[in-house]
Formats: sequence, C-alpha cells, structure tokens
Amino acid sequence: MTGKEGFDLVVVANRLPVDFTVGPGGDVEWNRSPGGLVTALEPVMQASDGAWVGWSGAPDLASEPFDADDMRLVPVTLSADEIERYYEGFSNDTLWPLYHDVISPPTYHRTWWEAYRRVNQRFADAAVAQVSPGGVVWVHDYQLQLVPQMIRAQRPDVRIGFFNHIPFPPLELFQQLPWRRQVLDGLLGADLVGFQRAGDAANFIRAVRRLRAHTTRGPIITVPGEDGRDRHVRAAAFPISIDSRRFDELARTPEVQQRSREIRADLGDPDIMMLGVDRLDYTKGIRHRIKAYGELLQDGRLDVEHATLVQVASPSRENVDAYQELREHVEGAVGRINGEYAEIGHAAIHYLHHSYPPEEMAALYLAADVMLVTALRDGMNLVAKEYVAARSDDRGVLVLSEFTGAADELSSGALLVNPHDIDGMKDIIVAAAHMDHREQRKRMRRLRRKVLSDDVAKWSESFLGVLTAMPSRVPHRRQDDAGHDGAQADLAVEAGA
Ligand code: G6P
Repeated sequence: MTGKEGFDLVVVANRLPVDFTVGPGGDVEWNRSPGGLVTALEPVMQASDGAWVGWSGAPDLASEPFDADDMRLVPVTLSADEIERYYEGFSNDTLWPLYHDVISPPTYHRTWWEAYRRVNQRFADAAVAQVSPGGVVWVHDYQLQLVPQMIRAQRPDVRIGFFNHIPFPPLELFQQLPWRRQVLDGLLGADLVGFQRAGDAANFIRAVRRLRAHTTRGPIITVPGEDGRDRHVRAAAFPISIDSRRFDELARTPEVQQRSREIRADLGDPDIMMLGVDRLDYTKGIRHRIKAYGELLQDGRLDVEHATLVQVASPSRENVDAYQELREHVEGAVGRINGEYAEIGHAAIHYLHHSYPPEEMAALYLAADVMLVTALRDGMNLVAKEYVAARSDDRGVLVLSEFTGAADELSSGALLVNPHDIDGMKDIIVAAAHMDHREQRKRMRRLRRKVLSDDVAKWSESFLGVLTAMPSRVPHRRQDDAGHDGAQADLAVEAGA
C-alpha cells in the first residue's frame, strides 16, 4: 500500500499463491506455490500495488494480512465445515461436474449453497476492505461467482473483472442448477466477464438472455439497475496461457536435459515414451487413455519392449467421493494392464500419484516422444502448452482432445482426438508413435509459434486492458428516463474497442 486508502489492484481467488507449513513450534511458515495464476499476475501486481485475497488451504488457519514478493496477501479463514460444504461440496461436487458436461452427476444440496453464499460474502468483504477508491478488483473462477455482485453492492466506485478458468456449460445443462439466477446475477456484478473460449462466452450470454431476459447485443449485456440506470457488462473470450519463455528456458538448462536423459535410461531406453500429466480428475479422460493404451498392447500394435506410458496423476480433492472412485478405477486398470503385459524391466504403464516441481516436469516433457492430453472436457489445459514450450528441439507429438480449450488454438500442429472414440484414439496414438521427424518438426514449430507468442503476460494485460478501457464508469439513464438511447450510443463505442 502506498500510503493511500487501499490497493489499486485486488485479485480474489479461492487459493492464495502460497503454501503453508506448520513448524515444530506450531509457527506457520508460508512458501510461494508455483501455480500458473501467480506467475501470470505477479508482474502486474508488482507494477500496480496489488493485494491478493484467498484461502490458505487449511481449516481454521487465521492470519493477519502480510507481504510477500511485493504483494499484500490477505488470508480468508474457512472452518472445516465450510471446507466440506463450500469447497468440496458446492464448488467441487456441484459446480465442477455441472460445468464439465455432467461427466460425473452433480449433487445439489441447499446447505452447500448456503455455505457457498456465506463464504463468497467473506471473500467479497475482504476485497472491499483492501481496494482503493476507483481501484480494480479481479475475481477468479467458479468458486467465487457471487463475489462480483457482492462487491458492487458495497463499492460501486470500483471496476470489477471476473475470469472463469473452467468451461461455462450450455444452457441445457446450466439450467439444472437450482440457484442458476443467483449465479448469473452474481457474475453480472462484474464489468467484464472473461472465458477461455468464445463458445463459453456464447453459452453465458445465452443463459443470461433466457434466464434473466436482459438485452444482449454481441458481447454486451445491458443490465437494468434498480435506480432506473443501465449498466453494460461485456462477456468475451481471453484464452489463458503459461509463462512460455520461462518454461522454454528451464527446459534448455543442462540440468533438465541431463535429467531427461536419465528418465529415459531409467525407463529402459524405450523407442517410444508416451506421457500423460494430469490432476487425478474424472474430466481428464485418464481412464479412456489407459483403456486405449491397454487395447493397443492387446492388439499387438504396441509392445512393452519398445513402448511405455508414464502417467503422472497428481492427488486432488481426495475427500470428494467421485475422486476416490476415479482413483480406484485408474489404479485397478493400471494394475490389470501391468499384470497382463509387463515384463521384468518393461512396465506397460508407470503410474505416479505425486506432484512434481517444474524442473522435473520439464525433464519429463523433454523425454516424451508423445504427449497424451485426452480430457473429456477442460477449460484450457495448460499441460499441452507446457509440453510445447519445453520442446525447443522441435521434436515430440502432441495428441490433444477436441474437448479442451487448447484445441481451439493448437489445432494446426496437434493431432486432435475424440477421447470417447476409443478406436479413433488408438489410431491417432499409433500415428503419433510413428510420425517421422520432418513432420514432427513442422507441427511443433507451428505449435511453438503460437505458445511462445501468446503467453500469460499477454493474457493478463489483455484482460486488464479491456477492463480498464471500458467506456463509462458512470451509469447512464435508460431511454425512457433520459429521452435518448444512451445504451445504444455506448454500444457503438464498445463495438470498436
Ligand atoms: C482447476 C481450477 C482452479 C483450481 C485448480 C486446482 O484448474 O480451475 O481454480 O485451483 O483446478 O484445484 P484445487 O481444488 O486443488 O484448488
């Protein structure tokens, strides 16, 4: 804070960009966590006097705001009961499956909704207490969809952006949600609502039209205010990316290159190493991928002496039933396939239920001839972009599901698959395994041009640029009050933005 009343930019996200550990004396220590969002926002936060409001990740952990890496961090405390209802329940057993094509059936509980509202209000209040007059608040993701409206109710002077990191579902699914109108109104508290894909923004605008009856024109939604004044909300796509340069440089270091050679040697120097890297989540299509791989071994189109699959599945949301069931299924399938096809010194699948630091990930990407991203639905999928950023040698093949946000951007270099079509996916995996080096180079160069130019700094600049350039901060009167159509005049300005 620079001696003024508050911070010019306040980020609100479910998690703080730090992990905590409790020392032997019971003292709490914070360490930076290497998440994508913090990398994206660090430069803008440091340049613009920023604060970050988020949950510490543990129950009942209360802490005063503190400074780290030139940012003010503002912890929000959640009780064990709130973690169960707001985080594991409403966020990850209601919204997550509903927004991911109901791959797993969403659960609707009124007590979870109550906790979601209460916790969203706590995040909103914390942001309100930090933001300077006329400042900017940027709210992130599905856990906090009510926060924009809650902030606006207290602070009409601030600019509010919201970015949804996951898909926004088609109306036919979204309308299952018993609190669908409240969620839309919560989001419409923002000035700018950002999505990964144009299709997500279109789904949102359609839901607003059908369930709220607001007028929409292209990306602009006109929201009538209670005082007879309209507001304009813009909904548009801002596909997120990674810190591509940093990943590219990391993968070029002698240590990472050496580690990647070691990995291949430890795997028995296979001709073809395939790699999957995912949170252990049912949206990622891990079961479909393993099924296809097992059938390829069964058919004899791949064999364990020449090929192997490394599957990194990092632990996630382990208290939610659907995740426990998935773990059992995946581990059962891996065990069956290894039991059936592995030989001494040649595992069919190397399954690693861990998270790894970026250096180890970069080494794995460099070692892998084929990267398998077979999600059934994914907002973006940053693993696909990390693989590309790591491959400065222009080698490797990216097999990419059509159902990822990344497919909208990377279709010219990746081999696209429909993971539900097991036979089709098997053919593509075999084609990837046999692709010649010239073709690999041609495709990887196209992918790298895209990933290295559209990085995460560009993403955050572009979102904040549109948010801060939005025309009127002062609400204008509706036509019947003001005698002219102020909304239409404003739209003309915005259409050119
Ligand atoms: C997805 C979500 C993020 C979330 C992350 C990890 O990427 O979009 O909001 O933080 O998964 O999930 P977790 O539940 O561990 O925060």
